[in-house]
Amino acid sequence: MTANAPIKHLLGIKGLSESHIQTIFETADNFKTLINGPVKKTPALRDITIANLFFENSTRTRVSFELAEKRLGADTINFSSSSSSVKKGETLIDTVNNILSMKVDMVVMRHPAPGACVFLSKHIDAQIVNAGDGTHEHPTQALLDAYSIREQYGDVAGKKVVIIGDILHSRVALSNIYCLQLLGAEVMVCGPATLIPKHIHALGVKVSHNLEEALRWCDVANMLRIQLERQDQRYFPSLKEYSRLYGLTMDKLNALDKEICIMHPGPINRGVEISSDVADSDHSIILQQVENGVAVRMAVLFLLGQQRL
Ligand code: CP
Repeated sequence: MTANAPIKHLLGIKGLSESHIQTIFETADNFKTLINGPVKKTPALRDITIANLFFENSTRTRVSFELAEKRLGADTINFSSSSSSVKKGETLIDTVNNILSMKVDMVVMRHPAPGACVFLSKHIDAQIVNAGDGTHEHPTQALLDAYSIREQYGDVAGKKVVIIGDILHSRVALSNIYCLQLLGAEVMVCGPATLIPKHIHALGVKVSHNLEEALRWCDVANMLRIQLERQDQRYFPSLKEYSRLYGLTMDKLNALDKEICIMHPGPINRGVEISSDVADSDHSIILQQVENGVAVRMAVLFLLGQQRL
C-alpha cells in the first residue's frame, strides 16, 4: 500500500500504510482534546447514518463506536444478531442490504467468521469498518493500542512489545503485529507452543515460551485472554497451570529491574492471564486504552466519512 492510496473501508491493518496510521493518530489527537473539553461533540458527520452490526458479543467496541458516532453527530442504528431475523435463517448479505435500503451510509460490523468484512465489501456499496472478524483482524483495537503506546512513550518506533497468551485464536494479536511493525516497533509473541501459530516467524516476530524471559525483554506487555469460545480442543492441561506459567502477577513484575507498561484489550479474566492487583495498578494502562478507543474510532469514522483516508 502506497502512502497516499485512498481507502474506502477499514477492513484490517493489512492494507494501511504508516502514513494512514499517522493521519488517524493526528486526527485522534484533535478528537481527544475535543472530548476532554466542555463541548464533547462536533457535527462533522451529521449527514451520515451508521449501522452497528454485531453478530458476536461485545462491550467495549460496540459502546465505543456508538459513542464515537454520536460525538461526530452521525445518526446510528444498532443491530444485534441474537434478537434479529438472522435467527430465522436470513443471510448476511440479505440482512445488510435490507438495512442499507433504509439509507444507511456506513457499516461497522463484528462477525465470528474471518473475512466476513472483506466478503461484505465485495457485495455492498456502503463503507465498512471491521469491528473484529473471527480470528482474523480487529483493526481499531490495534490502532487504539498503538495510540496508547505512543501516548505513553511519545513514539511507537523502537519500542519492544510482547503480546502474551492465546495468539492462535486472537484477531487482536494479528492486527497488533501488523500495526506495531508498520510503526517501527519490535514485536514478540509469548505463550505455550500450542497457542502460537506454527508459521508466525514468517511475520517477523520473535517467539518465546517463557513469560519471565519475555518480560525482561519488553517495554510493553499486552496480555490476551484465553479464548475458550473459539477453542475446539484442549490446548493446555488446566487454567490453573496456564495461570501459573503465563499469568502476570505482581511478584513477576517486582522481579524485574525496570518498569514496564501493561496493556489488555479486554475482557479481562482476572486471576487467569492477569492478577487483579496488576490490572488495577499504576503499571496498567487498560482504562486509558478504552478511553483512547473513542478518539481513535472518531478519527477512523471521520476520515472515512470525509473520504480523507
Ligand atoms: N477489546 C474488545 O474487542 O472488547 P469487546 O469484545 O468487549 O468489544
